[in-house]
Amino acid sequence: MKNNNISSSLISHPSSLIIVTGGAGYIGSHTLIELDKAGFDFLVLDNLSNSSQEAIKRVEKIINKKIPFVKGDIRDKELLREIFKENRIDSVIHFAGLKAVGESVQKPLVYYENNVCGTNNLLEVMKEFGVKKFVFSSSATVYGEPDKMPVTEDMQTGVGITNSYGRSKYMIEEILKDLFISDNSWKIAILRYFNPVGAHESGMMGEDPEGIPNNLMPFITQVAVGKLPKLRVFGGDYPTHDGTGVRDYIHVMDLANAHVKALEYINNNDLNEPLIVNLGTGQGYSVLDMVKAFERASGVKIPYEIVDRRPGDIAKIYANPNKAKELLGWEAKRGIDEMCESAWNWQSRNPRGYKGE
Ligand code: NAD
Ligand code: UD1
Repeated sequence: MKNNNISSSLISHPSSLIIVTGGAGYIGSHTLIELDKAGFDFLVLDNLSNSSQEAIKRVEKIINKKIPFVKGDIRDKELLREIFKENRIDSVIHFAGLKAVGESVQKPLVYYENNVCGTNNLLEVMKEFGVKKFVFSSSATVYGEPDKMPVTEDMQTGVGITNSYGRSKYMIEEILKDLFISDNSWKIAILRYFNPVGAHESGMMGEDPEGIPNNLMPFITQVAVGKLPKLRVFGGDYPTHDGTGVRDYIHVMDLANAHVKALEYINNNDLNEPLIVNLGTGQGYSVLDMVKAFERASGVKIPYEIVDRRPGDIAKIYANPNKAKELLGWEAKRGIDEMCESAWNWQSRNPRGYKGE
């Protein structure tokens, strides 16, 4: 074995494993808990470019089990081959990717190389080893600026996407569809996330972005702990009920559970095409709705100011989540109050995130 970063527990792991790429990240780490609860064994591959191994340690505490972890990159074919050679891999849940929208506009080649080439690389090695079950983290961003609401999976994608991050997700979806056309024994689930927020109920894990958060909820929680002075609300003149942008926020633990359901679905069903499902609640909330809900949940006042619209933002998007309910038997259970309470529970106990006490 060449790579010193591979933990020895990986070698010849007896049971069949799921590789969770990006499993140290926000959504991936929460999903590990649900996978474990459902009785799945897994191995995490993450280059820690946007995460900390502390997240894995926290999951280990919660599930009371050691997690096989490989610090490595999905673009490293030799490393992937070693992992596939030395373990019985059953399937891959693929979270690994770069996700900062603004940065993707500045560095499109970095985003295409990491997200698109990285995924292609991973799929090539899966093909070499005959592993053909794949669950992919896509995004509502593939719908661009939809003209109808709520959004259903059959609506047009790929048009009107305003950034390279979003286009990388669209391109990967197209690669996956082509792959299935070339060989219909692949079992692929494309999960289009709406806006994941919140944290595990323990308060031990949560979203821990590097630097100043781009997304709304971590920005609000960091204002609440006093790390940031006030929230800037991007646009107060959208055609929405209060003029601020409307999104479909979904609790990260509900989202995590959907991965288990998607995996079970592709394990147990023959597919005529990749499974594509929206993962949202079906309910749209504005920025100011979220601020009020957070204030209710935390008892902390969030100072804010309404500023210009953020380039690339759309007024409103929310999911029609019926397909996930019909096919996967999945629906979001947690509401906006639980999303805000859990986000606050995490941030107030861990004001510096995983960087510690
Ligand atoms: P995250 O940044 O917390 O997690 C992604 C993980 O992938 C990180 O731990 C990072 O270190 C790792 N990674 C990145 N490039 C890698 C590479 N080349 N090799 C190995 N590991 C690599 O992000 P997240 O919020 O948990 O998102 C997970 C996935 O879901 C991403 O693909 C993201 O694009 C997608 N997604 C996220 C959202 C959201 O709002 N958070 C919405 C829609 C889709
Ligand atoms: C963004 C990305 C999307 C990506 C997702 C997760 C765009 C166009 N979309 O979604 O591709 O999958 O993040 O990374 O960038 N807001 C404020 N102030 C803030 C932050 C946000 O008012 O400081 C508002 C936004 O204008 C928006 C809402 O809050 O109306 C949600 O924003 P955000 O959390 O960034 O998610 P999206 O823009 O929906």
